[in-house]
Amino acid sequence: MSLMEDLLLQAPSTVTLLGAVLFLLVLYLLSSSSSSEEHGKEPPGPRPLPLLGNILQLDLRRPYQTLCELSKKYGSVFTVHIGPRKVVVLAGYKTVKQALVNHAEEFGDRGINHLFSELNKGHGIVFANGDSWKEMRRFALTNLRDFGMGKKASEEKIIEEVHYLIEVFEEHKGKAFDTTQAMNYAVSNIICSIVYGSRFDYSDPRFRRSVDQANESIRLGGSISIQLYNMFPWLGPLLKNKTLILKNIADNKGEMKELVRGLKETLNPQMCRGFVDSFLVRKQTLEESGNMNSHYHTENLIQTVANLFAAGTDTTGTTLRWGLLLMAKYPDIQDRVQEEISRVIGSRQALVEDRKNLPYTDAVIHETQRLANIVPMSIPHTTSQDITFQGYFIKKGTDVLPLLTSVLRDESEWKSPHTFNPDHFLDEEGRFVKKDAFMPFSAGRRVCLGESLARMELFLFYCSHAVFLIFLFQVVGCVSERVWPGWSSSFSIVLMLSSSSSSSRS
Ligand code: HEM
Repeated sequence: MSLMEDLLLQAPSTVTLLGAVLFLLVLYLLSSSSSSEEHGKEPPGPRPLPLLGNILQLDLRRPYQTLCELSKKYGSVFTVHIGPRKVVVLAGYKTVKQALVNHAEEFGDRGINHLFSELNKGHGIVFANGDSWKEMRRFALTNLRDFGMGKKASEEKIIEEVHYLIEVFEEHKGKAFDTTQAMNYAVSNIICSIVYGSRFDYSDPRFRRSVDQANESIRLGGSISIQLYNMFPWLGPLLKNKTLILKNIADNKGEMKELVRGLKETLNPQMCRGFVDSFLVRKQTLEESGNMNSHYHTENLIQTVANLFAAGTDTTGTTLRWGLLLMAKYPDIQDRVQEEISRVIGSRQALVEDRKNLPYTDAVIHETQRLANIVPMSIPHTTSQDITFQGYFIKKGTDVLPLLTSVLRDESEWKSPHTFNPDHFLDEEGRFVKKDAFMPFSAGRRVCLGESLARMELFLFYCSHAVFLIFLFQVVGCVSERVWPGWSSSFSIVLMLSSSSSSSRS
């Protein structure tokens, strides 16, 4: 009996299934070729498999690396399919800048995957678009500045927190410990001061739980099972990580609602303590004037607060831990930092205004951020309208990944893109020089909202470590290539260091 007869005599379900797959395949091939013919050439890319797209070609632990390699073959604007989802990747400084800055509107919307759409429901800042995003972003920026972001007031809050952090380090009395939690508590507390108007004790169980859960959610969000869920949402009920992440986030929001309730009960419109108070006052004023349909509602408040914590904690904490790791790995550079700080400011607390007199230290911090590359594919964008970019047609609503790794390691912009070299930010006379391709906060309409706060935190924490913990940081064992960059995993938005890589001996 021929194979065909064999197949036809089998259960009809097999034949139907094969027929359906074949039909879908033909439909898929026809649709992909017709859309490119209709509007012009689409960005090139590796041929995708039906449903799976190009995921078999991607190193799922470090997708940004495979994407950098693909850009060598397909150019600086190319297409990959992550499962059934078509994504345009932008690579290299010139292309990323041209898209995000010169075509800020067209490339300025957020690409929102299934999980984040379910969790955020279009509220907040990070995973929102349109008028609500515009209003929340503007309000957050103005108010975070009013409550000290990038100013003297937050300098004081940061310095206070540095001292609490150093106390924790000292409690370990020279024994090795994992710095992740302590760092996260410290940077999270700075956001607490700005958002709620007060900090928490590191021993407060509710505070600890909130920060730990948020950290865990970021880790889970980057896991392969959650990526599978984003590609094939029907898998949801089978995935443990999905249940865990939803529970974590619900608990966290419950905690925030409690805190907001407390602030509401003691609200004094004449004396706002932080961002939440300002939001509540604005909401009240709008409602009193009869506007009950504004963007100032509780869901937007909770989601915006949740976004500020999620976007501002692990990013800054991880960068600081990279700082410790790199100082341990390069003791000569650590010595030069120590020498500069001792010579310029002695043993007093460093202040933001000292930065201009500490060019080497400033260069080391910038180089740490460049090499740490903690948000390697930025946060996905999406096109807000059809656009022809560098001769390629990109349809409205196409997801876009600005590959920040390829900017921070662009071979035409950096002398030694893959090594830790503070000279990248110094001129011949040892003066600090800015570099356009230094883009860890991305650029354009969606540029990191907390950039000025983060830069201030990095500088003050870094210098304070250097002053208080002189020569204390060595890595347990040595920082070998094996533990060297010990990143968390896969498609995480933020690449976290794995704890084994940054334990310290103080
Ligand atoms: C070293 C620390 C940080 C790094 C490297 C970093 C990096 C980034 C990057 C790459 C983006 C995506 C930009 C884009 O979509 O193109 C982003 C977005 C964002 N960041 Fe940061 N960030 C840091 C700290 C902070 C802090 C401290 C806060 C807040 C207190 C913050 C709040 C945000 C928010 C709200 C967004 C979303 C902006 C929007 O969608 O309009 N970030 N950040």
